[in-house]
Amino acid sequence: MESIPVKRTIILKVDSERPEIDKISIAAEVIRRGGLVAFPTETVYGLGADALNPVAVRDIYLAKMRPLDNPIIVHVADKNDVYKLAENVPESAERLMNLFWPGPLTLILKASEIVPRVTTGGLDTIAIRMPKHTVALSLIKMSERPIAAPSANLAGRPSPTLAEHVIQDLYGRIDVIIDAGPTNIGVESTVLDMTHEPPQILRPGGVTYEELKTVLGNIIIHPAAVARSEVHVEHARSPGMKHKHYAPKAEMIVVEGKFDSIVEKVKELAEQYFRAGRRVGVLATDESLQEYNFSLWTVKSLGSRSNLASAAKRLFRLLREFDEEGVDIIIAEGVPQEGLGLAIMNRLRRAAGYNIVRVD
Ligand code: TXA
Ligand code: MG
Repeated sequence: MESIPVKRTIILKVDSERPEIDKISIAAEVIRRGGLVAFPTETVYGLGADALNPVAVRDIYLAKMRPLDNPIIVHVADKNDVYKLAENVPESAERLMNLFWPGPLTLILKASEIVPRVTTGGLDTIAIRMPKHTVALSLIKMSERPIAAPSANLAGRPSPTLAEHVIQDLYGRIDVIIDAGPTNIGVESTVLDMTHEPPQILRPGGVTYEELKTVLGNIIIHPAAVARSEVHVEHARSPGMKHKHYAPKAEMIVVEGKFDSIVEKVKELAEQYFRAGRRVGVLATDESLQEYNFSLWTVKSLGSRSNLASAAKRLFRLLREFDEEGVDIIIAEGVPQEGLGLAIMNRLRRAAGYNIVRVD
């Protein structure tokens, strides 16, 4: 791991609904002084710093070992701040803010002069969202700064949905970790580019394509967000698209197609890898659990296929659990690409490095 000076990381346990003011004020003071604070949002834990302090933001990249061209989402607690951070905010963006904020929707807008280019990864656009989490909102308000925060994991690893995940990746590399228990949604926000006509989803997430389409009428999904293979750098509109992401240490295969065929294929692959001496993990759903061999394979369920919200919530935690339990190949069932399923499939495919088996 890259050597940065070792930090004495403080862990603050707070109540997720009624966060203790004295603890939030300690974290807010760290933000004001240019330090790094990991905090919960409704999607995943973020690694925050003062978005307007270029030195503090650079430290985020160093702590995460994040490539410097991958811009960071700026979190606000007040819609008025959008007009300080961005220019030419279209009426459609205002409509979305009114409907979906606070919530898991990030808007890409033209950046104003006050935003350091290290925050935007050198781009002239800025990503902004208002998180729906009492702890995140009180931290932003008390620090009196917009807070730049990528997910609080080492670059490339699954995003953290528990403070324990942040501790695994970043303990000793950042100043404060606020622990308020598990996050609610489990996959990151939807990134919507409002500088593109029609608006374009760069990353599917907590607010679905269907919901956005109802409001805006005309929106498109960037091909890379639904791709079954890696995107070429020149086609990557969002720098995050081209970087390795969400990957467990284990190798991973996603099986896609009709449900019955998926289950048959997962069993076949699991048997094959087991016979080859591998430690096999199966990422299943409740409907298929009884099909798998629990005595030979490590089987975990995303929950019912009819409840994709629970699948989203568990996804990253289960990927990390397979690693902890020493699994070296994960075979995952795909889910339908509807609603939250689009975000789940985007994460699964990328976690698998586009190692996809189709069975129809
Ligand atoms: O739910 C979330 O969005 C979480 C929580 C902490 O808010 N944050 C998060 O941040 O997932 P991060 O850095 O892991 O992902 C941000 C994504 C990246 O894919 C990045 O490339 C993209 O947003 N992004 C940020 N600014 C952008 C810009 N100006 N233009 C295009 N893409 C941008
Ligand atoms: Mg991330």
